[in-house]
Parts: sequence; structure tokens; C-alpha cells
Amino acid sequence: MTSATIYSRITGTGSYLPTNKLTNADLAARLAKDGIETSDEWIVERTGIRNRHFAAADQSASDLALPACVSALQAAGKVAGDVDLIICATSTPDMIFPSTAAILQHKLGQFFEKKEQVAGINHAQAATKSIAGCPAFDVQAVCSGFVYALTVADAMIKTGGAKCALVVGSEVFSRILDFKDRTTCVLFGDGAGAVVLEASSEPGILASELHADGKHVGVLCVPGTVNGGQILGDPLLKMDGQAVFKLAVGVLADVARSVLAKAGKTEADIDWLIPHQANIRIMLGTAKKLKMSEDKVIVTVADHGNTSAASIPLALDHGVRSGQIEKGETLMLEGVGGGFTWGAVLLTL
Ligand code: UT7
Repeated sequence: MTSATIYSRITGTGSYLPTNKLTNADLAARLAKDGIETSDEWIVERTGIRNRHFAAADQSASDLALPACVSALQAAGKVAGDVDLIICATSTPDMIFPSTAAILQHKLGQFFEKKEQVAGINHAQAATKSIAGCPAFDVQAVCSGFVYALTVADAMIKTGGAKCALVVGSEVFSRILDFKDRTTCVLFGDGAGAVVLEASSEPGILASELHADGKHVGVLCVPGTVNGGQILGDPLLKMDGQAVFKLAVGVLADVARSVLAKAGKTEADIDWLIPHQANIRIMLGTAKKLKMSEDKVIVTVADHGNTSAASIPLALDHGVRSGQIEKGETLMLEGVGGGFTWGAVLLTL
């Protein structure tokens, strides 16, 4: 007797951006108070970024993840109690431990039990069973975090370890920015994006590939740590932008081609490229290498900035809700970032 193949498929997407939106001009005015010069012109020309959102002082990564997850669950027609796995990709967790995913699980349970509003989203359906008890853990792969988390969830579903996973990327990078360093603080923003990934008899995720090369740790890092109640080292983000740029451009087209080959597909089969939203020049450069037209790239970097692990699910949700991406289309999701890490997931929506 042969058992039927189990696939995993995205059945709902959601996202959340904090309400505090800063334009390049707002940021330039803030830096000018410390005698640091930057301009809308420089930021737009070098990165494509025009705005970013910063979380309120009392909002943590799990707080941003909560409305993104509620929205994804509603899109999938699910409630919290249907979820049997939570993976949260973040480099800006609520605490050192427990994981942001565990904290999020509790907040999701409370939301569905209390039927309160979250970020303007009304509770849709009462919980029939509790979300408490399902496995919940964080994945730390910086800007590649979401493709790492999605790949792990896919593997757990395909091997029977879960049937309905919540995979979320959530970041509050504004907390680790050095506002005296104009080469980095203008680039990043806060936000969260989520998907519901369910077991399916039809293929959704077609192939994926993950990589890391730790020798590049110094090109993008937050080198501080906590020891004996003290912060040791610098707890703010450091980046050698040009080195990261060269590494990113080098790996993104290669990993996309490798994933296509695994799935028996070619560049022509991709309907939408959804790359990590760090810099418009890297994104369009990758599309060019893949011989894809620029209008097949989902671009949100202008309004979100670089939201690290949240950028890909934020862009995916934007593409779905704006009507650009349609069910049945083939998407290439690509992440790249600190570690150095990179990876790609090819899927049919
Ligand atoms: O999320 C992980 C992935 N991260 C990335 O993919 C980031 C990759 N790197 C980049 O996107 C780009 O390297 C940056 C956007 C960070 C920088 O762009 P660039 O074209 O590589 O600029 P640059 O570092 O070569 O700097 C050019 C000039 C310098 O001045 P000089 O030395 O030519 O006089 C910088 O001091 O621009 C200056 N500069 C700025 N000027 C105004 C650097 N930052 C700023 C700023 N405003 N914010």
C-alpha cells in the first residue's frame, strides 16, 4: 500500500505595519539635530526607500506579529485552535527567552478567547479549541529568516509533524539602529508578515534551498551581548554596506536557479519574484540576471524600508491583497542577510 504524498500550501497571508510612518525628510530632520546630514535624494537614489514605519515604545515583535497572524488566519478561514505549529523569524525578539513564538502563541489564544479587536481587526469566529500546547519556536537567520522558517515548516508538514502552521516574520529593527550612523539608520523599518501553511494533496511549496557562511559575520551584525547583568560590546547594528551588496548580488540569482532546477522549472515559469526588500538596485539586478521583467518583481521597499525577516511576507501579503498576485501563480521568494545567510523558496500559491 502506498501512502499519498503530503505537500504544504499557503492558504492565507497577513501583515501589519506600525502606525508611526517616517518619511526620508522626517528622518533627515531627526539626524540634523545631531549635526548628521542625509537627504531624501540620497536615500531614494541609493536604495529606493521613501518611508519606513517605527513601532511605538510599548510595541514588541510579538505585538506586531499578532495582527499579522490574525489577518493570515482570517484569510485562511482558520482560528487559533486550528494551528499546530508556530515559527517566528526574528532578530529582534521580545526577550532573550522565552521565544517570541511562545509569547505570540499566548497572545493569539487570548485574542481568540476574549474576542477583542487587534489593530482594527475584528474577531471573526470563536475559538473551539486552544492553541496552547502546539510547538512554537523562533528562527534566527536575520533577513533570510522567513525563507528559513518557511522551509522548516514545509519539512515538518511533509513529514507529518504538523498540519496547519503559522509562519511569521516580525521585527522591531528601530530598537537596534544607531541614529548617529547615517550609513545604516536610514535603511531599516519595523513590521510583521505572516502566512498560514497547511498540509495539502496539491503541491504548494515546490522546492527550497538554504545557505549560510559564517566567515562573513562581521559584514552585518549586532555584536553586543548580555553577561552578568551588563551589556557587553555594542548592541547596535553594524553593516559594511558595500560588502553586503556584493555578497547579495552574487548569491541571489544563483540560489534562484538552483531551486528552479530542483523543481524542474525555468525562469520563465516564475510569475512573481518576491525578494528580500533591502535595496531596489539589488532586487532589480537579480531580476535582470534571471531575465525577468521588472514589473514581475513585488516591490514594497519604498514604503516599508528594510524590515529584515518581515520584508518577504509583508511584500507577499501586499501583492496578494493588491490583486497583483493571483491564486495558482508561481512565486520565487528570496532572502539574504546577516550570517551571512541566503536562501530561496519556489511555490505555487
Ligand atoms: O538586509 C540585509 C541586506 N542588506 C543589504 O542588502 C544592504 C546592501 N547595501 C546597500 O544597499 C548599499 O551599500 C547602501 C545603500 C548601504 C549604501 O549605498 P552605496 O551606493 O554602497 O553607498 P556608499 O556606501 O558607497 O556611500 C557613498 C557615499 C559615501 O560618501 P563618500 O565617501 O563618497 O564621500 C557615504 O559617506 O554616500 C555617503 N553616505 C550618505 N550620504 C547621505 C552614506 N550614507 C549616507 C546617507 N546620506 N544616509
